[in-house]
Amino acid sequence: MTFDINNLYRGDLPAPEGKWPGIPPFSFVGGNNDEANVPVAGLSEAATRVFQREGRKLAVYNLGGSPLGHEELRSFICRKLDIRASTKVHLDEVLITSGSLQGLDLVNDLLLEPGDNVIVEEATYGGMISRLNRLGVIVHGVHLDEHGVRPDHLGELLEQCSNQGRPAKYLYTIPTVQNPTGTCMPLQRRLDILQVMNGHQTAIFEDDCYADLLWGCPRPPTLWELDESDTRVIYCGSFSKSIAPALRVGYLVADSPILQQILSLKTDAGSGALEQMVVAEYAASHFDDHAEQLTSVLHNKAQVMSDAVKEAFGDAVTFDMPQGGIFMWLTFAENIDTALFAAEAAQNGIEFNAGAGWSVDPKWGANKMRLCFGNPTEEAIREGVGALAQIMNLS
Ligand SMILES: Cc1ncc(COP(=O)(O)O)c(C=O)c1O
Repeated sequence: MTFDINNLYRGDLPAPEGKWPGIPPFSFVGGNNDEANVPVAGLSEAATRVFQREGRKLAVYNLGGSPLGHEELRSFICRKLDIRASTKVHLDEVLITSGSLQGLDLVNDLLLEPGDNVIVEEATYGGMISRLNRLGVIVHGVHLDEHGVRPDHLGELLEQCSNQGRPAKYLYTIPTVQNPTGTCMPLQRRLDILQVMNGHQTAIFEDDCYADLLWGCPRPPTLWELDESDTRVIYCGSFSKSIAPALRVGYLVADSPILQQILSLKTDAGSGALEQMVVAEYAASHFDDHAEQLTSVLHNKAQVMSDAVKEAFGDAVTFDMPQGGIFMWLTFAENIDTALFAAEAAQNGIEFNAGAGWSVDPKWGANKMRLCFGNPTEEAIREGVGALAQIMNLS
């Protein structure tokens, strides 16, 4: 009898991943940086210095320190949030994770059970939508406007869930450089959202992974800082977008007892210590200059993409300029389904995110598209957007 391990697989697995095809010439997907903007010299100097000084600490799990992560890195994150986002965080309120994706998984593991209600922005991070679908929770999309989550609709959804006897477990929001719309929620809207949440047994999961790349407005304080309950908000951040995604360094910020509970679920014996040490050493003296420089490069690229989209698509598309970050969110006529162009685009070396995958209601998102400008060069943006418009042939 032949043996087939497929027969032993769990019944609820997602489809297997295809073989990795490589990055195409016009890659407008994913949260990638471009090679030119990785601070290689600074990182390698920092790596040499920190290994010479503290490399032997690698002999023990967690470098012999707290399972919350490398202390210098946690203390840098506290300083960074204070200076850049007027947010006061204590050292015990920071947990280093392997990318913020691990943070998303840990918070979901902490809070969610099948059948739970959750509220997310109607257009949101595809990686969160797929996670929530797998967890079997009921996902409600809250309407957005140019300031982010609309408090009136949030109030309606909170009531609706409470009336079912199942208050939403959390509102997941990306307030500062929303993915995919690129908006930044102003201070007053943050206060309005917190006001609406008052009296509801619903947490806020604040994902701020693009917040260091903001150019369109001054950075408002985080919801975590503004929350008066002290335990409603769990916050996550990342060095993926501000330094490099392959580092896999992210963090959760939450009230200390919440983190202690989360630690019971983080059974990986600590996130990689090498990258934590290097990021801490590098960031202590270079983060602000680097983030400022990268933000200015991205602002230019956004302008290049905006010009290229206007030139190539003309009146066939509408979009708002992003306030920061690495992507633009395009809307086409109601009858267009952007996913239908993905295969032909791929044959021509172009990848984009069809709007359905970034929308709670895939039908609502079908005529939309997310284009990332973090990875391609300015030339590739011009050429790739032009080629995509020819394929879509809408004008
Ligand atoms: C909103 C949002 N959250 C989290 C992530 C995950 O980032 P990482 O795990 O690299 O920190 C991404 C990546 O694109 C994202 O866009």
